[in-house]
Amino acid sequence: MFLNRNLTKNYGFYGLVLRHNKQNMSKTKLTINNNGSVKIEGDFEIVDRNGNVYGLQGREVLSICRCGLSKNKPFCDGAHNGHFEHEAIAFDLPPKKV
Ligand code: FES
Repeated sequence: MFLNRNLTKNYGFYGLVLRHNKQNMSKTKLTINNNGSVKIEGDFEIVDRNGNVYGLQGREVLSICRCGLSKNKPFCDGAHNGHFEHEAIAFDLPPKKV
């Protein structure tokens, strides 16, 4: 799944917003891992619901918790191991309502 670089996308968990960098033409890729996190790679920034930027210290790959068990939310700390089950298989959403 790729995000359009012209979008600011509400990512859902913890009021987190993933904002793609409009100044760079590269894509951001999100990989939904089986039984665990969402891996983000590429050019991105992550902000809280107030627009404050998380200091990622130059990381271009990281994992976001989607199990709710991390003590370092919104980032994955491995607490999902053995406590979260979801087999990630891509599918098409129904048509967008207009
Ligand atoms: S997905 Fe890894 S700790 Fe939640």
